[in-house]
Amino acid sequence: MPEQADREIPATNLSRLVDSISEYLKYQKEEGVYSIESAAPNSPVVPTPSVTRATVETPMPDKAGADTLQLINAEVRACKACPLCEGRTRAVPGQGSSNPEIMFIGEGPGADEDRQGLAFVGRAGQLLTRIIEAMGLTREDVFIGNIVKCRPPENRAPLPDEMEACMPYLKRQIALLKPKVIVCLGATAVKGLFDVKTGITKLRGTWMSFEDIDTMPTFHPAYLLRNASGKKDVWEDMKAVLDRLGREPPPRKK
Ligand code: URA
Ligand code: SF4
Repeated sequence: MPEQADREIPATNLSRLVDSISEYLKYQKEEGVYSIESAAPNSPVVPTPSVTRATVETPMPDKAGADTLQLINAEVRACKACPLCEGRTRAVPGQGSSNPEIMFIGEGPGADEDRQGLAFVGRAGQLLTRIIEAMGLTREDVFIGNIVKCRPPENRAPLPDEMEACMPYLKRQIALLKPKVIVCLGATAVKGLFDVKTGITKLRGTWMSFEDIDTMPTFHPAYLLRNASGKKDVWEDMKAVLDRLGREPPPRKK
């Protein structure tokens, strides 16, 4: 039977569609896309979720064949280089400024991130937002990414092989973004970048260097949700980061 163009959409489908469109728009905004080109003649006015996902990006190396964030994003979304691809809903390449002073690196997507395709949007992400804002910055000023781009099952820590398989993407992101400072959020981020066995409690607060970029290890915000006493340590570390950038934290709201 031919498709009926004007058939009614059931209310539940409609609400799912609206959810998925608003998620898509939020996602586009985080990717820096603020306008939408008008639809081609005869194409549906409202994209279906599957169309939405397939047309998120048009990966095109620039004329010189240089690497771009868009290309990395598209490769990540299609990646099958490790078994974590099997359990993902969406891969999470990371998002934010393309010219950030600070790059935050976490462990890997959780359930909320997997659903939305965006890094640090769940509870830990909301705490990270507050930390960034306490520093006088916004999420759009920094880049927020992870060691692995696909959600590990049951939120377990990524395995060494998975981290290794995913690391080329992070290295390409770092090479393009050229942040002045990297902040490693938690032990997994440190393990991903450095060959160290020392725990995060010992390492936090001391500068390290990753490919000549000053790198500050600190506690993961998810740890802070369970151990509020670590917040003052993280704040010390973030003040050290600001100091290194020649910035000062804004006066604290009373
Ligand atoms: N925890 C992480 O390490 N990364 C996220 O993106 C979310 C939670
Ligand atoms: Fe590819 Fe990384 Fe996802 Fe593994 S975690 S499938 S290496 S993008």
